[in-house]
Amino acid sequence: MKPLLETRKLTRFFGGLAAVNEVDLQVAESEILGLIGPNGAGKSTFFNLVSGFHPVTRGTIAFQGRDITGMKAHEVANLGIGRAFQAATLFMQLSVFDNVFNGFHRHYREPVWKAFLHSASVRREEQRARQKVKEIIDFMGLTDYADRKAQNLPHGHQKILGVCIAMATQPKLLLLDEPFTGMHPEETAVMMKVVGKIRDSGVTVVIVEHNMDAVMRLCDRIAVLNQGRKIAEGPPGEIARNPEVIEAYLGSDEEEP
Ligand SMILES: Nc1ncnc2c1ncn2[C@@H]1O[C@H](COP(=O)(O)OP(=O)(O)OP(=O)(O)O)[C@@H](O)[C@H]1O
Ligand SMILES: [Mg+2]
Repeated sequence: MKPLLETRKLTRFFGGLAAVNEVDLQVAESEILGLIGPNGAGKSTFFNLVSGFHPVTRGTIAFQGRDITGMKAHEVANLGIGRAFQAATLFMQLSVFDNVFNGFHRHYREPVWKAFLHSASVRREEQRARQKVKEIIDFMGLTDYADRKAQNLPHGHQKILGVCIAMATQPKLLLLDEPFTGMHPEETAVMMKVVGKIRDSGVTVVIVEHNMDAVMRLCDRIAVLNQGRKIAEGPPGEIARNPEVIEAYLGSDEEEP
């Protein structure tokens, strides 16, 4: 079967530094792929390239068999690649509902100026959008928090809200950058359930994460970056025993996989 996402020799230089270096990676439909590696390995840069935030230096990116290399971030998002950021990007003063509603507005077909006309069709459209946002919030388990300001949520729920906003664009492929960072074990367990549920709903997920326990339990497959290069790829058990992977982590003072 054709991969959902395929990069070939994907490369990005910052000055003389190859942050991502000739990375060939395939992501199959409906899998959860873990993308791991020590700090500075190029994981977030890889996401920035795939989602059109940074231009690539060399190499290609294909999504659903279509070359998307060089596309702008909003074009990539429109094709169905959603993304939650390493640092939460929430509107802290707004409610959970309004945060997700803002994320959804791309699907809200009527242009904003038409809202001034208060036509029946605009009201219907808004009603439809509100219903959809409510469904996403329910699906993500945030129903009880819908009216709370984002700033008043516990850290774990803020991270889930970040994923919720990415889900509001109704992606086929979801890129999660460190969804478990800073979470205590109960929050991690909730987030793991949420990610599993997202995959079960038919969305393919790529997770960048340092929490090895969560990665090993959640991912079907793992790819490892080190200094911009892919050094290993395989099932979690295999990756945890891979000498080159262990060496990469030992050399960086980080937790071993
Ligand atoms: N906008 C930028 N300008 C210059 N250098 C950058 C930029 N973004 C990333 N880099 C460099 O590229 C390399 C890879 O960084 P990246 O953020 O992709 O790593 P990472 O694997 O996500 O690390 P971490 O696990 O710490 O988040 C690093 O050396 C970093 O300093
Ligand atoms: Mg990063």
